[in-house]
Amino acid sequence: MDSRLLPTAKEAMARAYARYSEFQVGAAILAENDRIYAGCNVENAAYPLGNCAEAGAIAAMVQDGARRIREILIIGGRRGLAAEICPPCGGCRQRIREFADETTRIHLVDGSGACMTFGCDALLPHSFGPGHVK
Ligand code: THU
Repeated sequence: MDSRLLPTAKEAMARAYARYSEFQVGAAILAENDRIYAGCNVENAAYPLGNCAEAGAIAAMVQDGARRIREILIIGGRRGLAAEICPPCGGCRQRIREFADETTRIHLVDGSGACMTFGCDALLPHSFGPGHVK
């Protein structure tokens, strides 16, 4: 795993705007250009308008011209890192899928530093993707 991912995700998580759920999430992406992109969740008083951390990191990557996720690391929990991992929500699995390939690795790290790593297909089997809309 790229050594920049965990510190970047932790920094992003600390900046989460999670005043309603108090559930802070940070995501860090290593893209195909060897750059790192970070995102945190940004909630809203109109609850459904909140954004997930992964969406922010993906937006930063795309805005910078990158299109492929080599690795993405996600951490989170109520008021910061928790004992358990923070599994990406279903919507974010689909968001990651858009920019993933068979080599993409998704790392979920818990408060003890333990890491579980998955391929995209394990988290979103039989997925719908760009190839279906050609
Ligand atoms: N959240 C994320 O940022 N990413 C996920 O994959 C799961 C959930 C955020 C959304 C909301 O701000 C808070 O966690 C509680 O659901």
